[in-house]
Amino acid sequence: MFPTQRPRRLRGTPALRRLVAETELRPRNLVLPMFVRENATEPVPISSMPGVVQHTRDSLRKSAVEAVAAGVGGLMLFGVPEHKDATGSGAIDPKGVLNVGLADLFAEVGDATVIMSDCCLDEFTDHGHCGVLTPDGAVDNDATLALYAEMAVAQAAAGAHLIGPSGMMDGQVGVIREALDNAGHLDAGILAYTAKYASAFYGPFREAVRSSLRGDRKTYQQDPGNAREALRELALDLAEGADAVMVKPAMAYLDVLRTVADNADVPVAAYQVSGEYSMIEAAAANGWVDRDRMVLETLTGIRRAGADVVLTYWAAEVATWLA
Ligand code: PBG
Repeated sequence: MFPTQRPRRLRGTPALRRLVAETELRPRNLVLPMFVRENATEPVPISSMPGVVQHTRDSLRKSAVEAVAAGVGGLMLFGVPEHKDATGSGAIDPKGVLNVGLADLFAEVGDATVIMSDCCLDEFTDHGHCGVLTPDGAVDNDATLALYAEMAVAQAAAGAHLIGPSGMMDGQVGVIREALDNAGHLDAGILAYTAKYASAFYGPFREAVRSSLRGDRKTYQQDPGNAREALRELALDLAEGADAVMVKPAMAYLDVLRTVADNADVPVAAYQVSGEYSMIEAAAANGWVDRDRMVLETLTGIRRAGADVVLTYWAAEVATWLA
């Protein structure tokens, strides 16, 4: 007996495969995370993320123009300040590196792309935590919220279209929404880091932002084994006014991404984080894997799992491949 069901029929030529492809990856789906370093006079390579740099103000503008020309959907900016302190005051200062960088981006590419800002204190605190600390060293949720509110307003004033609270403090979306509204930034949106796990995959990022963290973020980021609480975080973020939601990291959490995508009535993003980038770059540098195919496969898989938008350090490069 020959089989009558022959799924291979639809795989026989590139044209057949193109016709029946379910998942599309387009430049507009990709967001490029970028780092701007205070007082840098040359772009500073990040050794654990080959090909990624801490930008000067000038190189940030130039790379942003290139990424936008390649068609990326947006840019997500992180600041690398020269000085840190206990409350991360550089995050709120309009002259702080992140706010200056956002203003530079807005001046350069403006509404031609979507400018997103990391709304978190960890790059700016000398202890490296995402919030301020109580006298006994715990991360103080509600004191941190007040600072996030000020930070978000400063970012919107600098030109951010979407504010990205990534600190996993309870109530952060609601507090930021209220502060933006009170300051008249009714059109600034919130891309909430809804399900963000305490992950080893952030390792290279810590070099990228010169993090001073000792210890871990397990009292505020989620336990990698837990899927159900992602739905709880989703319900809270939506109730508090999130305009879009995110799952992070991506590859080790594709089930969470699928669940969030199935339950969200707003756009869903996923963040392919630094460690996901670095492990493929490292394997490729050893000649062990086909870099470009692997990059496309991971991004396609993240889209297939439910992400409308993918933050990836390959965004600009991949956008040129897909153009
Ligand atoms: C926190 C933040 C982190 C990342 C994005 N925002 C680090 C952390 O939570 O420790 C990680 C991104 C990456 O690894 O690429 N501001």
